[in-house]
Amino acid sequence: MREAEVIELVDAFIAGAVTEERWTHAAHVASAAYLVRTRGRRRALSTMRDGIQNLNRVLGSTGYHETLTVAWVDLLAGMVHEGRGEDAETMLRRVLAASADKQVMLEHYTRDRVMSEEARARFVPPDLRPLPRPDYALRDATPGDAERINAIYNHYVPWSSCTFALEPTPIEERSLWLSRRHRDHPAVVAETDGEVVGWGSLDPYRSRGGYAATAEISIYVDPSEHGRGLGRELTRRLMARAAEVGLHTIIAMICTEQRASLTAFSREGFVERGTMREVGRKLERWLDVAVLERRV
Ligand SMILES: CC(C)(COP(=O)(O)OP(=O)(O)OC[C@H]1O[C@@H](n2cnc3c(N)ncnc32)[C@H](O)[C@@H]1OP(=O)(O)O)[C@@H](O)C(=O)NCCC(=O)NCCS
Repeated sequence: MREAEVIELVDAFIAGAVTEERWTHAAHVASAAYLVRTRGRRRALSTMRDGIQNLNRVLGSTGYHETLTVAWVDLLAGMVHEGRGEDAETMLRRVLAASADKQVMLEHYTRDRVMSEEARARFVPPDLRPLPRPDYALRDATPGDAERINAIYNHYVPWSSCTFALEPTPIEERSLWLSRRHRDHPAVVAETDGEVVGWGSLDPYRSRGGYAATAEISIYVDPSEHGRGLGRELTRRLMARAAEVGLHTIIAMICTEQRASLTAFSREGFVERGTMREVGRKLERWLDVAVLERRV
């Protein structure tokens, strides 16, 4: 496929003007690879996601699949980056040849997992072989990160027991939370392609003075980045920051439904000390909270 053809295809795709016959697997692949090359993986993902959903509306299709969209962009990003320095047409030829067989996805996912309703609605990490891992840059959060931090957090509010918030946090509240942070309670973010995709914070556990050296940890990763070790990296960075600021004990309060969080914190040395029964109510059920603790 010539570069000019792909540019025209991508423009038609973004405008929702590509026909069903033209929107083949090769057209998907060429568009996504071209977008990764010219805009980076994260912007390519949001353009593909918006474009496919828009096209589905135009074509009257209900077939949008979040896991396949994310996983294909990730696989293609891995392939595009392998050929650094090559021209656009060589890259397209190579990537189209390597991804001609749709079944390559089944090297990463079992059929049951990738075809599940959950995978259709939300990204689920692979259960066979990991997807290519992007580079993440970790740093302390700054006031300019409030919007992305809030968007990642608020995504979970309506449907998940990982936070017991019932309403999204207004941006003003999040900005205040970020701007009023004390040096003893750092917040960190992880970026890739210039976009914040995960964050973590250490917040006061209790206001009484005797608790000053104890903090509560929170980690939130953009769902489309789950399962790539980012939660682990953020936890490690925060534990290092906890040592720097002289904290002594870190607490994690985790809803017992949240297997990912329980596993992620246990792997990083947090020990479960007990479970508070039915202390939360959300999603029309009573929720239990496990208390995990780790010495700095
Ligand atoms: C919990 C969370 C931060 C984990 O982030 P992540 O980047 O997907 O996790 P990682 O890839 O770093 O995995 C860390 C460990 O947890 C395990 N894990 C991750 N997701 C899992 C899942 N769904 N089920 C079981 N184990 C899981 C991993 O296998 C890994 O263990 P390993 O080193 O033995 O392989 C992420 O799922 C998230 O943002 N959840 C919503 C917010 C939340 O619940 N935060 C915690 C409470 S504040």
